[in-house]
Amino acid sequence: MFYTLPNSKSIKLCATATLGFLTLYLYKFRIIFALNFTSSLMKNTLIAPSVLSADFANLQRDIEMINNSEADWFHIDIMDGVFVPNISFGMPVLEAITRHAKKTVDVHLMIVNPDQYIKTFAALGATNLTVHYEACTHLHRTLQAIKAEGMKAGIAINPHTNVALLEDVIKDTDLVCMMSVNPGFGGQSFIENTYKKVKQLKEIITRNNAPTLIEIDGGVSDKNAKQLVEAGADVLVAGNYVFKADNPTETIASLKKLTSF
Ligand code: DX5
Ligand code: ZN
Repeated sequence: MFYTLPNSKSIKLCATATLGFLTLYLYKFRIIFALNFTSSLMKNTLIAPSVLSADFANLQRDIEMINNSEADWFHIDIMDGVFVPNISFGMPVLEAITRHAKKTVDVHLMIVNPDQYIKTFAALGATNLTVHYEACTHLHRTLQAIKAEGMKAGIAINPHTNVALLEDVIKDTDLVCMMSVNPGFGGQSFIENTYKKVKQLKEIITRNNAPTLIEIDGGVSDKNAKQLVEAGADVLVAGNYVFKADNPTETIASLKKLTSF
């Protein structure tokens, strides 16, 4: 057995090939890094059409419309006529919705004593369960009970409720549903003070390094959507703006485009 020493030509060839591979390898990482960096800068705002504004006589059609659109979540408003001056719908209708819904089911409870129904809403297929700050005496316990049932736990706050009150539960909260109208009805006018509150809440979330998403509920349209996202909103609920439009599917797509930058 004997070895031959490589000649200078093959050394050069080998060095060029190694350099080539190294360059390609680093280049690949540069591309991956650039892609990751860009996507981390891109805002993917979630759009949640509010089923309260759907045509209840054509509920399955409207649910399929959401399934086939660019919407991210179904927003479902449950009202009891006590916490808010209106009654929307209850368990049988929610059951019918979740049977057809193929996306996250975001349930917003506008009811007193929400603790009583946590297990029921989990069984009905809610992905997120949001209770009102103003309706919960033992909010921390309620949030834990929601999570124990495998759902994401949300807190909704009325327009008069100061976001500073959430400081001590923010780390336990997956979602804050900030009401930008007084809860109870669809189709109301957006309250302008919301922008300030979103910025304040975003500051609390960032300072606590909390995983919480900010959802805006009430009077959302193309007039305020971009400004809300710039202030820190992650999820936009839209009822009337989507369902009263000539083309709800296109309206959802345009809201998504307007708020993803
Ligand atoms: C109001 C509900 C909202 C309502 C939003 O109490 O919580 O989810 O459906 O509807 P619009 O977008 O029409 O204000
Ligand atoms: Zn709602």
